[in-house]
Amino acid sequence: MRACQARVERVLDALLPAHGAAPASLRDGMRYAVLGGGKRLRALLAYAAAECTQVPTRGADAIAAAVELIHAYSLVHDDMPCMDDDAMRRGKPTVHVQFGEATALLVGDTLQCFAFEVLTADATLDPARCAQMVLALARASGADGMAGGQAIDLASLGGPLDLPALERMHRMKTGALITASVALPGVLAGADADTRTTLDTYAAHVGLAFQVVDDVLDATADQATLGKTPGKDAQNAKPTYASELGIDAATRFAFDLRDRALAALAPLGPRAARLADLARFVVARPS
Ligand code: IPE
Ligand code: IPE
Ligand code: MG
Ligand code: MG
Ligand code: MG
Repeated sequence: MRACQARVERVLDALLPAHGAAPASLRDGMRYAVLGGGKRLRALLAYAAAECTQVPTRGADAIAAAVELIHAYSLVHDDMPCMDDDAMRRGKPTVHVQFGEATALLVGDTLQCFAFEVLTADATLDPARCAQMVLALARASGADGMAGGQAIDLASLGGPLDLPALERMHRMKTGALITASVALPGVLAGADADTRTTLDTYAAHVGLAFQVVDDVLDATADQATLGKTPGKDAQNAKPTYASELGIDAATRFAFDLRDRALAALAPLGPRAARLADLARFVVARPS
């Protein structure tokens, strides 16, 4: 894991513009939002799925960077006062606190565009498969994926949410990008339909488990461990798995999803060992 985390850090550091036509504040804000923090789970999943489907390193790097760029953009916007209004992320002041709201908005915009640039800029990658990856990542990030899930999240403030609605919101706002992180290597590799279905099933369980655990950690972890302000979901009156199911049942549900993710990997055999490790990590992580 540490090797892959260091690898994607190097790739992102090399890609993010230190010079260019844009004002330094925008470029600094992009680098601030992306570099030097985060668990890099989406990149780790992409590298593990790339290993499983035998995607060459350059392709794996592009996918790992692209999904982390979309993720970082979603966090910058998620933290803004018009959304969750958070002042701390990855143990640092959030981008809007550090650079102002307008720059934070534009940092998110540019990171989103940059993700698709990174996914298509390597001329050694098959163009038709790159186009399929763009389609999958766009769908995972857009109205039927992350952004749509975020809209449901904001529309649900204050209210209780029944479990089917909560699950749907979580699958969209968080699960879709996690599923894309695992699916894109299969797309680039031209993996067979059975393998891709297996990867999608695994990732859907992991993606939901990830946000269930995020909800539990918000209610149970401390700020130093979390690197963000705990208790924000309750403060913002958000319906979460912690509030709707309770900590114990939510934790049991996450472990159950982990087991379903592990079971889904069976047809892939030993080449899915890293994916299995990551499913275990998602429910055992301290932050
Ligand atoms: C936090 O994601 C936001 C969610 C989608 C729950 P992570 O917990 O993966 O954040 P970083 O990248 O490690 O900071
Ligand atoms: C984040 O969910 C989902 C995103 C798409 C960014 P949260 O709002 O719970 O994430 P944190 O807890 O702020 O990291
Ligand atoms: Mg949020
Ligand atoms: Mg938030
Ligand atoms: Mg949260």
